[in-house]
Amino acid sequence: MARMSGRAPIKPLLRVLAGESLNRPPWWLMRQAGRYLPEYRAVRAKAGDFVTLCLNPELAAEVTLQPIRRFSMDAAILFSDILLVPRALGQRLSFENDGPKLEPLANIVAVGKPDIAMLEPVAEAVRRVRAELPDRTALIGFAGAPWTVATYMVEGGTSRDFHRVKTRAYRDPSEFSALIERISAVTLDFLCLQVEAGVEVVQLFDSWAGALSPAGFERWVIDPTKRLVAALKARFPDVPIIGFPRGAGLLYERYAAETGVDAVGLDTAVPPGFARDRLQSRLPVQGNLDPVLLVVGGEAMRSAVADVRAALSSGPYIFNLGHGILPETPPEHVAELARLLSEPTHAT
Ligand code: CP3
Repeated sequence: MARMSGRAPIKPLLRVLAGESLNRPPWWLMRQAGRYLPEYRAVRAKAGDFVTLCLNPELAAEVTLQPIRRFSMDAAILFSDILLVPRALGQRLSFENDGPKLEPLANIVAVGKPDIAMLEPVAEAVRRVRAELPDRTALIGFAGAPWTVATYMVEGGTSRDFHRVKTRAYRDPSEFSALIERISAVTLDFLCLQVEAGVEVVQLFDSWAGALSPAGFERWVIDPTKRLVAALKARFPDVPIIGFPRGAGLLYERYAAETGVDAVGLDTAVPPGFARDRLQSRLPVQGNLDPVLLVVGGEAMRSAVADVRAALSSGPYIFNLGHGILPETPPEHVAELARLLSEPTHAT
């Protein structure tokens, strides 16, 4: 493999993010550290509370490395959570069996002064992971995009219809914009802290981008993402940013053209042909095996993996799921996926 004056070979994930097409696509899986792994469940039980686990550098580094030890993905994603940002803004956060709970945001603009020091253990976790990762494995940091974080802050948890948050955004855009600004400022600090500690790529999760009207998407997804990307690029021009506007549908094209992200993550519903013709001509794409196919495994999984690779491997492409791995996923199916992806897409 090519070496530049004694430096380590450039990592496959970083090569693709720089625009190369590889016959063996680099891969990682959203939520690859998590409950489908018995070793994660053991650490999680030891830590007790989920937020405690996120803020314990030793344990957070350990669970980040667990999937890499088993499956040798091309990237590790820092074990953390997008809801640490509301917590740094002073909103109480807990995780119950049915998901995250945030205390009601009574006065939307009066969120507290951010406590960035609270996030410092995350930097220590990043340093520990970097020290232990194999040379060819990249480290990805992340945050929620401002819109998605705002949905949790206003709804108080995961929502079915986003009624409350959309009502606020559509009824009083300038008040809602003040909330987006506050979230954006802390998110920028959070991402800078991760990059300074050693993450090499950043992913912005806009998990609920698909909940908005087209005009709302422009204002609350595209615009804040564009400003966050510009601010991060001003500080760290060489750190690639992957945007994941889940559910954006036809608006993926606008997102790719206008936000300044270096690559886009495709959700499960994006047709690979559309991604190839309308997105990949502009930037690298990542995705988008249905996570349920990884639960099902067997021939259904194998043929879907072959199809997505056939459609996207002639351009810069990172293999991933279309959303996070499901807790009921058998780890053996991930092992089989790793074997499939170790073979070239096209015979050489
Ligand atoms: O990908 C990884 O392995 C890194 C870790 C990671 C977690 N959350 C750990 C986690 C990442 C990248 C996230 C991102 C995240 N967190 C998103 C965006 C991605 C997406 O799924 O859309 C969102 C919306 C959140 C908020 C969040 N955190 C929810 C809604 C939940 C509960 C739902 C669930 O899956 O249980 C969490 C908890 C959470 N974050 C868990 C993990 C491993 C499970 C909690 C546990 O172990 O009990």
